[in-house]
Amino acid sequence: MRGLLLTLSLFNPFTFLPLTAQVYLDETQPLEQRVEDALRRMTLDEKIAIIHAQSKFSAPGVKRLGIPDMWTDDGPHGVRPDVLWDEWEQAGQTNDSCVAFPALTCLAATWNPQMARIYGESLGEEALYRGKAMILGPGVNINRTPLNGRNFEYMGEDPWLASRMVVPYVQGLQSKGVAACVKHYALNNDEEYRHQVNVIVSDRALREIYLPAFEAAVKEGGAWAIMGAYNLYKNQHNCHNEILLNRILKQEWGFDGVVVSDWGGAHNTDEAVRNGLDLEFGTWTDGLTMGATNAYDNYYLALPYKKAIQEGRYTTKELDEKVRRVLRLHFRTTMNRQRPYGFLCSEAHYDAARKIAGEGIVLLKNEQHVLPIQQNAKVLVVGENAIKMMTVGGGSSSLKVQHEVLPLDGLQSAPNSQFTIDYARGYVGDTVQSYNGVTVGRSIAESRTSAELRAEAVEKAKQADVVIVFGGLNKSDFQDCEGHDRRQYELPYEQNELVEALAKVNKNIVFVNISGNAVAMPWIDKVPAVVQGWFLGSEAGNALADVLTGRVNPSGKLPFTWFRQLSDVGAHSLNTYPGTWREGHDVIDEEYKEDIFVGYRWADLSAKRKKEMLTAHRSSLTAYRSTPLFPFGYGLSYTTFDVTVNGHEGGANVSVTVTVKNTGKVAGAETVQLYVGPNKPDNSRPVKELKAFQKVWLEPGESKTITLTASRQSLSVWDEAAGQWTFIPGTYRAYIGTSSNTNSSFKLNLL
Ligand code: BGC
Repeated sequence: MRGLLLTLSLFNPFTFLPLTAQVYLDETQPLEQRVEDALRRMTLDEKIAIIHAQSKFSAPGVKRLGIPDMWTDDGPHGVRPDVLWDEWEQAGQTNDSCVAFPALTCLAATWNPQMARIYGESLGEEALYRGKAMILGPGVNINRTPLNGRNFEYMGEDPWLASRMVVPYVQGLQSKGVAACVKHYALNNDEEYRHQVNVIVSDRALREIYLPAFEAAVKEGGAWAIMGAYNLYKNQHNCHNEILLNRILKQEWGFDGVVVSDWGGAHNTDEAVRNGLDLEFGTWTDGLTMGATNAYDNYYLALPYKKAIQEGRYTTKELDEKVRRVLRLHFRTTMNRQRPYGFLCSEAHYDAARKIAGEGIVLLKNEQHVLPIQQNAKVLVVGENAIKMMTVGGGSSSLKVQHEVLPLDGLQSAPNSQFTIDYARGYVGDTVQSYNGVTVGRSIAESRTSAELRAEAVEKAKQADVVIVFGGLNKSDFQDCEGHDRRQYELPYEQNELVEALAKVNKNIVFVNISGNAVAMPWIDKVPAVVQGWFLGSEAGNALADVLTGRVNPSGKLPFTWFRQLSDVGAHSLNTYPGTWREGHDVIDEEYKEDIFVGYRWADLSAKRKKEMLTAHRSSLTAYRSTPLFPFGYGLSYTTFDVTVNGHEGGANVSVTVTVKNTGKVAGAETVQLYVGPNKPDNSRPVKELKAFQKVWLEPGESKTITLTASRQSLSVWDEAAGQWTFIPGTYRAYIGTSSNTNSSFKLNLL
């Protein structure tokens, strides 16, 4: 009898294949063999089950085979609090208060790939503790317009910078056995009408501007998952898009991971089956009113798909391919016994958050050495953003943190500081501080009028040595927030009036802009110091105090161009935003008319060419400025640097040797940037493009020599006719600078 039982158990009861060895459970076996072994043991129902969600953030495993459920979570700045099974409302757990890391714009502003690595590792440990196999992030959509409500979740405007930063984030996270789900693939560059926008873009801009960071995340970072975007490209939703998913991602780039739909981004069974979607999440379900036992059964890749297979409309070819990918994800994550332990809120995570924040803060202006704050100074802090938590709100990246140090608190507790601090509210923005049931618990309600608040701040400013205004945006709707874009480039809540009024009574105004986007600063000439303070997460106040007091010497550099006004931005000057509704108001076409000329590529474009483009696209704009307020790659320090080019080589690669010297009195870091463009710019490609950079730390008086190299591949252009990358040999011009605004250039011949 015993012998009979044993023999029976060696056969899969469903397929009757001999299953002598459980290869799929054997970690010494090659991944693909484990995948095939698990696949052939699975029933149709089990296969259908693992390719769609069973709750807001989980998909079932295969219990019979010991494959656990797969839990995922946002992303990308910390691990989102658990929500109820089928609702967005937080579940009210007591073990899900996390560390919030700085928003990804800040990470990009560090220009330090090592920061991205520790970001990914730390987040991976938090995810492991929370039982999450996959984090919904990082985001690498290109900053095309400063109105995009989600730019704070992305890594700026430049494909090279975003690529260099996304790769170590993905690798760091995945080194912990937690998958990155890189999002939102692709062309999700603004939020307004995100489900209906059909992006029209040239192949060249797609390849040269919008895809490289995704490509790097996949090919170099080895991302295990990618999230399709809500919007459409070539009239097909990107969660099941033949060109983007099947042709480019899977065939061309050889992606072997899972394509996850953005929540509610799947719309159609047939396209989902054929066009590359592997794992369906967040499709709108209406509880049990659809008459099924479980509304998740109604997902496009659930019962409708199963029925179609049973009726012979599909073979199991596509299904098996999806299941293979999901199984791979399991073996890399939930089934990976080598995964380390997870830690939530460890000291190391707070240290990482503070360090990344400190390195990402950008000093934009600092006349007469207003900063760092002098000892014994009488400091007046003004502004709602000095007392407002920024980790709650903004959409899916909202977090429930163990703690968040507010800017005012950070300054008040700054170590060894001997200045005195007074506070005035100055303006009221949004006092609602809750998101999906997570509330801040500290009221910032204010009943005074803006005139009263301004008057109080002005009175106090008269007595102060220095006034530090914490303003900018916040995570409320129509600010830096998912679901909509900003409605204006200007600062909200009468902040301009406040700054103007303060500047009249005190010459030492420091404006700390808290945001993920550039804003208009019409008062810039009246204010001696400006700091870009991003959304910095749990350690925000400490990191800001570190920089403002000089404990940390600022070294952040802008990951985007800071235009003076909206009409200076390519996308806006050409009237391409938000697009044109089609008849019926179902789809809005947004044509990226500025093409490859995004950000500094647009700013650099000759006036003549801009004019031609404006005319060709019938823009009503007649006057435009090309000099940004602050260029891409720009950021000051409390010390000064000399950058000298020692030598350069052409040939197969561009290679430039540079000596950087700290010529000031404090230690600091400078980021040397190599841009390359045609020797004689002719508008057929950007004047110059970032191709290499390196951040160099130097003690006072110290020098270091570094070599920056750009490969032929990185200098290639997308040949639309041939449908491939091509390198054009000839004479190029290389530029070395500490921002994109540099005159130091030289000719090089490339073969
Ligand atoms: C967002 C994604 C997010 C998902 C799950 C969507 O609305 O676009 O970025 O990961 O929700 O919260």
